[in-house]
Amino acid sequence: MARIELSSVTKSWGDVVAVEPTDLVIDDGELVAILGPSGCGKSTTLFMLAGIYAPSGGELRFDGAVVNEVEARHRNVGIVFQSYALYPHMNVRRNIMFPLKFKGVPAAEARRRAEETARLVQVGELLDRTPAQMSGGQQQRVALARALVKEPQLLLLDEPLSNLDATLRLSMRSEIRRLQRQLGVTTILVTHDQVEATTMADRIVCMSKGRIEQVGSVDDLFLRPKSLFVASFIGAPPINLVDARAEGGRLALPHQAVGTKAGDGDVVIGIRPENVALGAPDREGCLAATVLQVEPMGRETLYVLDSALGRLHALEHGAQRRFRDGDRVGCELPLSAMLLFDRQSGLRIEEPGLAAG
Ligand SMILES: Nc1ncnc2c1ncn2[C@@H]1O[C@H](COP(=O)(O)OP(=O)(O)OP(=O)(O)O)[C@@H](O)[C@H]1O
Ligand SMILES: [Mg+2]
Repeated sequence: MARIELSSVTKSWGDVVAVEPTDLVIDDGELVAILGPSGCGKSTTLFMLAGIYAPSGGELRFDGAVVNEVEARHRNVGIVFQSYALYPHMNVRRNIMFPLKFKGVPAAEARRRAEETARLVQVGELLDRTPAQMSGGQQQRVALARALVKEPQLLLLDEPLSNLDATLRLSMRSEIRRLQRQLGVTTILVTHDQVEATTMADRIVCMSKGRIEQVGSVDDLFLRPKSLFVASFIGAPPINLVDARAEGGRLALPHQAVGTKAGDGDVVIGIRPENVALGAPDREGCLAATVLQVEPMGRETLYVLDSALGRLHALEHGAQRRFRDGDRVGCELPLSAMLLFDRQSGLRIEEPGLAAG
């Protein structure tokens, strides 16, 4: 197990900067998820930690020791790639034993450890099968066993569940989490599935365009996003964003005057669909809107609305659909649920101090 440290670590290819200078510390035994859209530098970050790519700058440390120059096979890192990349001509036993061969572990011991690890991830019955004779979920577990068998000090998982169906994902999620806790191995999980990140990780690193936007718990990211990017990336259906202007301590909204401590300037108001409360039209302090579309989501109902603030989404719990297309409604937009962002910088204004008036 190891404490992992990135200090100003960066990676570029010619003009393409895949990872901007990045600082991050991951504690011994922690499971951190890296979450971000396609192309934001998640895999590149993992590959630098694994020793597959050399950083263009900065320092990587494992337990305080700089490892930039340490070859991949001497870093003792287990990795599960985006595609599981099992050796197709080898059976499960030999696939799992493979990394031990490199380390010069005697055959009998390698075999024993491979079988033990296979049992740990519950493929102990499949040792003589080849990858082609297994389901995706089973192959996934073998890939995990192969990463775990050498007792790595760092486990890197690059979208390990992306090829599984929803049910299997759910059970693999909790299984990986259980194993990770049991072994206490420092783990970095790359995903662009926010539910995966929020359910599995101790902390989430949210990346965009090669930069870390925010590091924190799911509550930090959801309730206290530092930027418009984080606010709109976390949460489904996504947050409503509305342009407004702060002037002389006031925000002029079409339905309500709002006092604010924010300084003068163009702002963006964010309000999550679940905080938009629908009721009868023409109520005092409510924003008038027309229902454009009703989307049943099973446990919830999503309303698409047209209002003087533009298009808004409102999410209601329960399957009962209280309104229909074309209905006039009044939207309550509680000030306490509004997030305010500086439009220019995209950063959240932390003390907007919103009040009616
Ligand atoms: N070998 C390479 N040569 C040049 N550019 C590369 C190389 N590998 C990655 N890139 C670029 O670096 C950026 C980050 O790529 P990376 O694979 O880290 O993204 P990612 O976050 O893992 O995306 P995804 O979710 O699609 O897997 C992208 O713009 C990509 O095109
Ligand atoms: Mg990737």
